[in-house]
Amino acid sequence: MTSFLKIRSTSDGSTTVENTQLGETYHSVHGAVTESRHVFLWNGLEWFEKNRSARPIKIFEVGLGTGLNAALATQWSVQTNVPIRYTSIEKYPLEEHLVESLVFPGLDRQWLDKIHRASWNEQLDVHPMVSFKKISADLLEFDPEPGSADLIFFDAFAPSRQPEMWDMSVIEKITTLMSREGVLVSYCAQGQFKRNLRSCGLEVAALPGPPGKREMVRAIRPSIPA
Ligand SMILES: C[S@@+](CC[C@H](N)C(=O)[O-])C[C@H]1O[C@@H](n2cnc3c(N)ncnc32)[C@H](O)[C@@H]1O
Repeated sequence: MTSFLKIRSTSDGSTTVENTQLGETYHSVHGAVTESRHVFLWNGLEWFEKNRSARPIKIFEVGLGTGLNAALATQWSVQTNVPIRYTSIEKYPLEEHLVESLVFPGLDRQWLDKIHRASWNEQLDVHPMVSFKKISADLLEFDPEPGSADLIFFDAFAPSRQPEMWDMSVIEKITTLMSREGVLVSYCAQGQFKRNLRSCGLEVAALPGPPGKREMVRAIRPSIPA
């Protein structure tokens, strides 16, 4: 049992996991579900659905973690009938007893269970609208398929805790993954991160963040002149 991972309550009544070794939580302590909905659903998936045409929407997530982002995206897809193809990479899968203790109000538990019971590295239809794959790998050694993702959920631990995940080489790798309609969202609006995204040719917007955070980031590929 990994003793440095603990379940922790957050302000909106949902839980998250805390890594006491890193001194870092998997989501905001001001509300795990609130943060995930704000950054990844509303400013990510819903924005993409309204502004871009690619279907299914191919999502690539950095850090499956608790599976909250993946399960919320799955629930959204089922409710809206917009197909998604969700891929998530994770180096340190959570142990089952931690997953079982998670409480996420407003999320139908079946999606979280399906995601965690899925086999690693295999494509699975968790619903006719949702194709899902979780990759057991280190992002730093991962070889991305260029142009294979429309929407990136960049959800690594904070730059202060895990700086190597925000290195220019990683940002280049992630932007290589992005399709022509590609969009990236992250809860992080750190200056160096935004500069790295701009150096990779993306247009970067700082948007109002979820509770407890002034800003978040959405980065898009500039439109190609007709
Ligand atoms: C902020 S948490 C992600 C939270 C997650 N998206 C969720 O909805 O619960 C960051 C995740 O990145 C994972 N991670 C850390 N280093 C990694 C690496 N080198 N490659 C892939 N995943 C990594 C961690 O294990 C953790 O699950």
